[in-house]
Amino acid sequence: MEAPEEYQGEPRRTFLAAIGALATGAAAALVPVAAGVAALVDPLRKRGPETSMVLVTKLSAIPDDGTPKKFTVRQDRVDAWSTEADAPVGAVYLRRADDGVAALNVVCPHAGCFVGLADDRAGFACPCHRSSFDLDGAVDDPASPSPRDMDALEVEVRNDDEVWVRFQNFLPGRHDKTAV
Ligand code: FES
Repeated sequence: MEAPEEYQGEPRRTFLAAIGALATGAAAALVPVAAGVAALVDPLRKRGPETSMVLVTKLSAIPDDGTPKKFTVRQDRVDAWSTEADAPVGAVYLRRADDGVAALNVVCPHAGCFVGLADDRAGFACPCHRSSFDLDGAVDDPASPSPRDMDALEVEVRNDDEVWVRFQNFLPGRHDKTAV
């Protein structure tokens, strides 16, 4: 780069110093901008399938006879920029099982409709495309379009009467169970 005439010779050093100062200033200005952008985007990067156990109901609220019952799951909902306390985030079927309590996500693994209790048998039926599941959530009709069984969730009974579930959603339309 050719320095302007007034910066030839001794003044040329002044010109180069001015260019250097300009470049340093620009770099210094970019650091906080980059940090701001990173902070803005950071919550998005942090969102992932991390979950924690959430208290859903009392054990005494689940029928003794093994009939599944649907419960809303409430949790503090945290998105990229805000938090909503105790918001409904989904629902589960809870059922007393031989080894305690079983939990199934109500969302159909086919395309995401809410699975209901079957009218004509002990099991679940999806109203959208007729996927059919048994009480354990296993596909029980080969004509079912669901690519996998209903999504079972980890459940724990704590303090004798508290039913805690690790609530999670999974991608529909896939054979494998991929958390979202
Ligand atoms: S969404 Fe349930 S069968 Fe299609």
